[in-house]
Amino acid sequence: MPTYRIAPSILSADFARLGEEVRNVVAAGADMIHFDVMDNHYVPNLTIGPLVCEAIRPHVQVPIDVHLMVKPVDRLIPDFAKAGANIISFHPECSEHIDRSLQLIRDHGCKAGLAFNPATPLHVLDHLMDKLDLILLMSVNPGFGGQSFIPHTLKKIAAVRKMIGESGRDILLQVDGGIKIENIAEVAAAGADTFVAGSAIFGKPDYASVITAMRGELAKV
Ligand code: DX5
Ligand code: ZN
Repeated sequence: MPTYRIAPSILSADFARLGEEVRNVVAAGADMIHFDVMDNHYVPNLTIGPLVCEAIRPHVQVPIDVHLMVKPVDRLIPDFAKAGANIISFHPECSEHIDRSLQLIRDHGCKAGLAFNPATPLHVLDHLMDKLDLILLMSVNPGFGGQSFIPHTLKKIAAVRKMIGESGRDILLQVDGGIKIENIAEVAAAGADTFVAGSAIFGKPDYASVITAMRGELAKV
């Protein structure tokens, strides 16, 4: 069985109690904290920045996985690295020089990821596999929590799993959007190993029961 990772998205957490929320979700079994950054420009929503990342950093030991939905992206990369991010992902549409932005992330000591919207083609990957630690496939259009999983993402997940296998490199395959207890096994079977879930976890009163149920589903794959 692959090593599966569950990455709760704090987009659906209670922002008035964020320190407590991240501590609770890690105690409930989260492997990392998914941190969604939206700019009201690349995506039609506005969320949180490096100050909030810095504020939650002392509350958890697990990696903070920053998903940048901002354009342009380069100026924020050093800020998030200094704020304690461990993984930083961005969308190829948000950088004029994708290779340079990925290198900037690594130069600041973080793992580098590239995020693909449901309609974004994968061809940039042909030239970048050696610069990547994570590939994030969006299974909803970015901007909001609580949307439904777009089924054609499954084929894309399988295609990226094949590319990762052929590369021989250790690259996480993360899927983000509409992941729930009911569909996590299907997403894993398609080839994903890292699962972002916002509303499915933070929308329920008992985070541990959701995460345990997700792991139970993953064990059946
Ligand atoms: C959407 C974000 C997601 C979001 C997922 O743009 O990137 O990380 O929080 O939320 P759910 O799991 O509710 O679809
Ligand atoms: Zn996200």
